[in-house]
Amino acid sequence: MEIKGCIFDLDGVIVDTAKYHYLAWKRLADHLDVNFTLEDNERLKGVSRMDSLEIILAIGKRKLNKELKEKYARLKNEWYIDYISKMTPDEILSGSIKFINELKGAGIKTALGSASKNTPLILKRVGMEKMFDAVVDGNIVSRAKPNPEVFIVAAGMIKVKPEHCVVFEDAVAGVQAAINAGMICVGIGSRKVLAKAHYIISGLDEMNLKKLKEI
Ligand code: BG6
Ligand code: MG
Repeated sequence: MEIKGCIFDLDGVIVDTAKYHYLAWKRLADHLDVNFTLEDNERLKGVSRMDSLEIILAIGKRKLNKELKEKYARLKNEWYIDYISKMTPDEILSGSIKFINELKGAGIKTALGSASKNTPLILKRVGMEKMFDAVVDGNIVSRAKPNPEVFIVAAGMIKVKPEHCVVFEDAVAGVQAAINAGMICVGIGSRKVLAKAHYIISGLDEMNLKKLKEI
């Protein structure tokens, strides 16, 4: 397979924001008296804000009306924004910039494919607004991972067919979205959690053009 495009998830792949999502959701879960563990948190990765809240409510067997759900999703986001608005380029995950620049040097297109509506703020904070050939985020697409929409739209924007794209993902829902899009998926994390990924690495610092071509 000839690789012509690479699509990156943002949270937990390019930047170390997964911990901030967890801290904000944990705070909300405590507030709602729901017992929410790090293991439960894996199910939230890659999932939209409202769907994440639904998972937490299901864990705690809690039912809330629409108005309250919106209030709590907003509250979580305010806490999350408190964290990310203080981010610096130091929080770019190791190896990301080097690898993306290597791809660009080889003429491979790059895109970001994230569920997050906070993508523009994060990219600005870490100085990566101009890094990718295309940015597709939760403000553009509405169907959440594992729906493949985000990756299909990203591939369209860089004008690369899905079968020539590789996706880098740290979330179970994101790996499934890449597979649903008909793309190769490199999972970032553990083989146990990301069982369906075609290839596993612990971070982009383990990846380079030579390894990518061997996948
Ligand atoms: C994904 C995260 O990238 O974005 C999820 O992995 C998060 O944890 C989702 O819920 C939506 O993010 P936001 O910033 O729009 O609440
Ligand atoms: Mg992620």
